[in-house]
Amino acid sequence: MTAPYEGPPKGGPHVRSERETVAHESARGHVTGDALYTDDLLSRYPELLHAWPVLAPHAHATLETLDLAPALAEPGVIATLSASDVPGEGDSGANRHDEPLFPTEILFFNQPVAWVLATSLDAARNGAARVTATYSPLPAVLTIEQAIEADSYLTGPLRISDGNMTALADSAVRVDGELSIGGQEHFYLETQSAIAWLDETGGVALHSSTQHPAETQEIVARVLGVPKHRVTVECVRMGGAFGGKEVQANAWAAVAALGAWKTRRPVRVRLTRALDMALTGKRHPYLARYSAGLATDGRLQALRLELFSDGGWSLDLSEPIMWRSLFHCDNAYRIPAVDVTGRVCRTHKTSQTAFRGFGGPQAMLVIEDVLSRAAQRLSIPGDVVRERNFYRDGDTTHYGQRVDEAARMTTIWTQLKATSELDRRRAAIDRFNAEHPHRKRGLAMTPVKFGISFTATFFNQGGALVLVYRDGSVQVNHGGTEMGQGLFTKVQQIALESLGVTRERIRMMPTRTDKVPNTSATAASAGTDLNGAAVADACAQIRSRLLPVAASLLGCDEAAVVFADNVVSANGRTASFAAVCEAAYRQRIPLFAHGYYRTPDIHFDLAAGRGRPFHYFVYGAAVSEVEVDGFTGDYRLVRSDLLEDAGQSIAPIVDRGQIEGGFIQGVGWLTIEELLWDARGKVATAGASTYKLPSWSELPEIFNVALLERPPQPNVVFGSKAVGEPPLMLAISVREAIREAIAAFRPGAEVTLDSPATPERVFFAIRHVRAGAEEAEIAGTISRRDR
Ligand code: MTE
Ligand code: MOS
Repeated sequence: MTAPYEGPPKGGPHVRSERETVAHESARGHVTGDALYTDDLLSRYPELLHAWPVLAPHAHATLETLDLAPALAEPGVIATLSASDVPGEGDSGANRHDEPLFPTEILFFNQPVAWVLATSLDAARNGAARVTATYSPLPAVLTIEQAIEADSYLTGPLRISDGNMTALADSAVRVDGELSIGGQEHFYLETQSAIAWLDETGGVALHSSTQHPAETQEIVARVLGVPKHRVTVECVRMGGAFGGKEVQANAWAAVAALGAWKTRRPVRVRLTRALDMALTGKRHPYLARYSAGLATDGRLQALRLELFSDGGWSLDLSEPIMWRSLFHCDNAYRIPAVDVTGRVCRTHKTSQTAFRGFGGPQAMLVIEDVLSRAAQRLSIPGDVVRERNFYRDGDTTHYGQRVDEAARMTTIWTQLKATSELDRRRAAIDRFNAEHPHRKRGLAMTPVKFGISFTATFFNQGGALVLVYRDGSVQVNHGGTEMGQGLFTKVQQIALESLGVTRERIRMMPTRTDKVPNTSATAASAGTDLNGAAVADACAQIRSRLLPVAASLLGCDEAAVVFADNVVSANGRTASFAAVCEAAYRQRIPLFAHGYYRTPDIHFDLAAGRGRPFHYFVYGAAVSEVEVDGFTGDYRLVRSDLLEDAGQSIAPIVDRGQIEGGFIQGVGWLTIEELLWDARGKVATAGASTYKLPSWSELPEIFNVALLERPPQPNVVFGSKAVGEPPLMLAISVREAIREAIAAFRPGAEVTLDSPATPERVFFAIRHVRAGAEEAEIAGTISRRDR
């Protein structure tokens, strides 16, 4: 199977209206507590041992001595794990093999150097506290600036260049600057967890909260020194992942497996919240240095951009994340000349990793920063400058991909301007600002264009195994993992429409490496595109086998047979779906099929920086209004209107949830979530008390979310579109609205603003802007420290 499955057997408004009410398949379980997660399963494993790490109290040091023996004196401690226990390779680094499980050189504060296994978590923790270790501290690199200074890089420079860069010097308007962009903690509600045990036939089995069971299997096999067929990984569901379990679930699974291998007892690793925040990677902080050239009407002429990401102690996914940054520095805009480079800094911090948007958000923030500053300098409304720069159908990006369906961007823009009453509200805000010297409102509209596909082409494949039983009930297995995003809901919908059966006949099975092998991570928002198409393929095969059976049962032509709601009918005669399955079984026709899908027509040449890395683009836009307090820098989000193109949605309620949740997660990243590391390199914000997440009080007071009306996406399963990541970047509208409000404290000001725009940063930006107005009076009160 190569071509995607084009559409539901029975299309039209009937199906669409059915889909309108499809709720998340685990919604009830999520609220009642019946939906089980990895760590809920621990009571099923008698003799279970709990694991706790021995942590190194240095960001960079050599481990001189390590004495684990005292831990064994702690009551309840059964074993310790160290390098000598590893039968295979003691490393969990997915790509570069640069993540030793038992390091001798410490590369980040609190890096685990050994593990203690005990009959209770407290005993394991007490045992770990008894371990003695000595270290020789080494100088640590803790910021991007220090890394640049020390020439400390994990990879790069990666580069894409296109067009004639002399346009930069020739531009009438130059916007140059630096933008510092903070990272973000995933804060999935379920922390990292794994349970490993020895199975009946000499292998090791695991429950793991992983987005990528096949890779978790690979790392476990590597550490144990066994072939992959001796390792089985199951993911029942995740309590959120957001990219944080794309590769970073592997190490904990490997520790659990190693513990089970050594002790012959089940072993559970579950990080506490504090451990999870101290040990796992985050969204990459970035430093951007840019020079942009524009015409006096705000049209972009050229962009020179240097991106530096803070990769932390190991490579992880930092390289493809930086590639996605390079691909997305245009956002939705045609830039005739682009020269963009990216380097991943090596610092002695947690190893930063995938996080919703995967490097796209940071780069898109840069170009929006440029356009906002340019608009303020030119005194042209931001939405007008943006619109002037949009791609038109047939344009190509700086990496040589034609922008198909660019007209959708304009459609969205025009529609959202009208529904959000942009022009009327702008006039109202001007009046408000004229009347209020110490409170100002700001309004901003920003677009999103986001490329769908893994940029590593080979990942773009999906597999499925669909089993139909003689009673007409169905089990669906596929390679994707459920993390709350609703993948299983959509795949179930695809299966039930494809087979013509009702929802309760289709059971979605937990993801297992022994059902579908060699799967890709559920990531890049492509879960439904890949796995849904593979399930549609398997269902289509089964249907085509059932068709002649049904036709002969009903005494009609195959063309006349309709499968719907567990009934197979033709010309007024009916048979139950179950009867057709039973008849097929008796005729010795197989009632199961594997399905497969590979995304067509994508390729990318890394060396040349040219290709067609994306199957298609997702488009959306947002309008946000904020009110800022000039005395405190505090702000509130008055209203947000979002319009997103989700194609012909398979589950509109789920898609809305993704849009709302993604947007708010983006608002958190850009406003109140601030990660801090102390002078020793320890994560200082390692808990909910110091790391502020958005909650009810941060929701927009008026929140309008809409899907672009039913525009089927060609060549994607059921005409749908990916929705998982793109809405996060709609939150840029909030940051740009804050900038507008700050500028209102001195009409004509051009505001520079680092990210996140915390109330503190906003406060100092307002002081800075006001100082421009009343230089003589208050300039003396503005010190360097304030900025
Ligand atoms: N939604 C919820 N509720 N929980 C999550 O962990 N992860 C996001 C997004 N939406 C996530 C989520 C990320 S980072 C991605 S890549 C996609 O879901 C992955 O799922 P999909 O490909 O099925 O959209
Ligand atoms: Mo999502 S960051 O691609 O897991």
